[in-house]
Amino acid sequence: MAITELTLTRPDDWHLHLRDDAMLAAVLPDSARRFGRAIVMPNLKPPITTVAEARAYRERILAAVPAGSAFEPLMTLYLTEATTPAHIAEAKASGCVHAVKYYPAGATTNADSGVTDLHRCRAVFEAMQKHGLPLLLHGEVVDPEVDVFDREAVFIDRHLTGLRRDFPGLRMVLEHITTRAGADFVAEAPAYVGATLTPQHLLLNRNAIFSGGLSPHAYCLPVLKRESHRQALLAAATSGDPSFFLGTDSAPHPRHAKESACGCAGIYSAHAAIELYAEAFDSVGRLDRLEAFASFHGADFYGLPRNRDTITLRKQPWRVPEEVDFGGVPGVPMRAGDQVAWWLVD
Ligand code: DOR
Ligand code: ZN
Repeated sequence: MAITELTLTRPDDWHLHLRDDAMLAAVLPDSARRFGRAIVMPNLKPPITTVAEARAYRERILAAVPAGSAFEPLMTLYLTEATTPAHIAEAKASGCVHAVKYYPAGATTNADSGVTDLHRCRAVFEAMQKHGLPLLLHGEVVDPEVDVFDREAVFIDRHLTGLRRDFPGLRMVLEHITTRAGADFVAEAPAYVGATLTPQHLLLNRNAIFSGGLSPHAYCLPVLKRESHRQALLAAATSGDPSFFLGTDSAPHPRHAKESACGCAGIYSAHAAIELYAEAFDSVGRLDRLEAFASFHGADFYGLPRNRDTITLRKQPWRVPEEVDFGGVPGVPMRAGDQVAWWLVD
């Protein structure tokens, strides 16, 4: 019989953009309602590059957590060419910084301070390997000669293979994978090389950007890929392989910043995140594997205890609003105006 109600150990979001100030206050309740913890991306303006900044940002997030929620932000540092092994030792000792995020310079939103040449970070990678601090990779090249749809595969060939060879013990997460090449790389690597998967890359292919006209709300980075890649990602997510875990990459931008001559990359999914993953797993008859993907694999990878409480989902369609408030500015959530098949029971 088809499953219509599902109780899961409370999931965690291993890749989340919470922003700051009014936008933080507006979006955080969506994540806190669903997830126990989240790995919080450091790409603020200016980026979070020191433990002191991470601690201060963590306090601002905690101050915005709704009453009654035990949501816990897990902080990250933004890797720059000025990051040193001493920063890494301090981050590890802090107890509040759980990873370091690599952005190729200029790759995406607030990535201007990112790294231009990975070779400049070798001493830092040595330190991360020694301290067991995971490196979170925005795995794309920014070489303008490379086709935008090939940027992940080329990153794997040009950089990731060498990084694995030179730092064989470095814990890594290939974030928001979008291709079969990404899924294969992680499946073949040891257990301490993981990947996060977003709801949009499991549910949409690149046609979504162009169907019925150009849709800036389907634009994120790495960009959506063709259907065969989506199917490979869905197979990886539902395979039961503990290297694959939930990371929404929910990334709020004001409506006007997306509906623009130069629209920002990012899809907001926090308002329906676990519900959308349930749809994806349901579409291939693998709801039985949702809990491990959403609630166990990431915690195990990061060496953190699994959550103890639960959430319940019901198969009951509901309509996503056309627009939501991002703290005094409107934003357009994933599936705006359309239905989501699963409902989070309070
Ligand atoms: O689509 C994206 N949005 N990809 C990223 O890598 C960054 C994110 C953001 O911060 O908006
Ligand atoms: Zn992201």
